[in-house]
Amino acid sequence: MRLSSPTALPRTLRRTTARRTTARRTTAGIAAFAAAGLLAAAAPTALAAPSAPSAPSAPAPALAAPDIPLANVKAHLSQFQSIASANGGNRAHGRPGYKASIDYVKGKLDAAGFTTTVQQFTSGGATGYNLVADWPGGDPDKVLMAGAHLDSVSSGAGINDNASGSAGVLETALAVSRAQLKPTKHLRFAWWGAEEVGLVGSRHYVNTLPAAERSKVTGYLNFDMIGSPNAGYFVYDDDPTIEKTFKDYYAGLNIPTEIETEGDGRSDHAPFKSVGIPVGGLFSGASRAKTSAQAQKWGGTAGQAFDRCYHSSCDTTANINDTALDRNSDAIAHAVWKLGTDTPVPPGDSYENTTDVTIPDNGAAVTSTVNVTGRTGNAPATLKVDVDIRHTWRGDVVVDLLAPDGSAYRLKNSSGDDSADNIIATYTVDASSETANGAWKLRVQDVAAQDTGYINSWKLTF
Ligand code: TRP
Ligand code: ZN
Ligand code: CA
Repeated sequence: MRLSSPTALPRTLRRTTARRTTARRTTAGIAAFAAAGLLAAAAPTALAAPSAPSAPSAPAPALAAPDIPLANVKAHLSQFQSIASANGGNRAHGRPGYKASIDYVKGKLDAAGFTTTVQQFTSGGATGYNLVADWPGGDPDKVLMAGAHLDSVSSGAGINDNASGSAGVLETALAVSRAQLKPTKHLRFAWWGAEEVGLVGSRHYVNTLPAAERSKVTGYLNFDMIGSPNAGYFVYDDDPTIEKTFKDYYAGLNIPTEIETEGDGRSDHAPFKSVGIPVGGLFSGASRAKTSAQAQKWGGTAGQAFDRCYHSSCDTTANINDTALDRNSDAIAHAVWKLGTDTPVPPGDSYENTTDVTIPDNGAAVTSTVNVTGRTGNAPATLKVDVDIRHTWRGDVVVDLLAPDGSAYRLKNSSGDDSADNIIATYTVDASSETANGAWKLRVQDVAAQDTGYINSWKLTF
């Protein structure tokens, strides 16, 4: 029943247009509609066969990463071993083996076309060094970082901890240069000093990075111990997108992974995480013992540490599992390519559903769904909703936009005396508190008897 009748006339007399019938897609039906002026502007759409919901051109997929040659990564490990051997057996903060390691990495990157910066700091009375290498190009407002600590403890050469991560990141950077990659994001690689003294170098970098620069860092990927001799395959449980990127890589190899639990916050991602930068990373295990369940799925020796030489003098080039080092190095490249060359969906794209939905007379609400994918963050404060509803008495109709989480935004109320045909309108909704991706619905209900209609199409523009 109509709640408030605008006029005393019987409904049949108020009707001003031909009543729509189920035959409206026959030629005769369409002709009748056209004659009534209903198809004036939208004839091509109305005449077209109903089509599946359409999305805008999909975001460009990320480029495929190259295979990182294990031999190259191992050659870097040999160099770090030689550097330690020539400098008292270690590459520790404040010792000559550390600065020699910085010089080695910087030389490779400079020759490959990176813009390198050595950042100095002081810790325990000794000068420490971070090395930062920027690959020219990419969006300067969207920076993807990957890093590893370059220092060892003083008791050994630190080849698994952490020449392994340092070499994997270095060889990935050199692969970027070999490919002359044109990433969408700006790529920045980093080698940290004094991690073993308490994450000093990375904390210094984060703390001295101006707030405006910090906010441009879309992610930091950390690699600390990626060639453990009795390897496990651990992924940091942090930013979901980064975590998924690594898990997908391993799923593609049919290798199970586990969440890293041997000390969250025990490496250089922690200072980034503490200022709200999304982080992730890989880890092949330190002094904790491999369980029998882990030995079953990964091989290796149950009851033995992932790295029996952790922080000791036997952490040499002999303390490396080549398979783990190879896979993890490829995983670094996979993540840098995937996260660095993904094209975000630009603003202005629309998502449309042109499938007709009949609106029952004075009946239950119906919905039409538009699936939004490939966007990041929230919907805009000026989300545009184009609505095309054909109806013979539009005052009967209530229209809401439903966000993916179900929140309703009223677009149009019923108003019994609004006897005009159709709702062909554009509404602007402040949807800035809603996640952009997901199933958005147009919910339409006819709340008064007699006149009827259908959702012809509707569209969201971000
Ligand atoms: N260099 C790290 C440390 O000595 C090694 C480490 C232990 C680690 N547990 C970790 C690295 C967990 C990453 C994640 O503490
Ligand atoms: Zn380490
Ligand atoms: Ca009605």
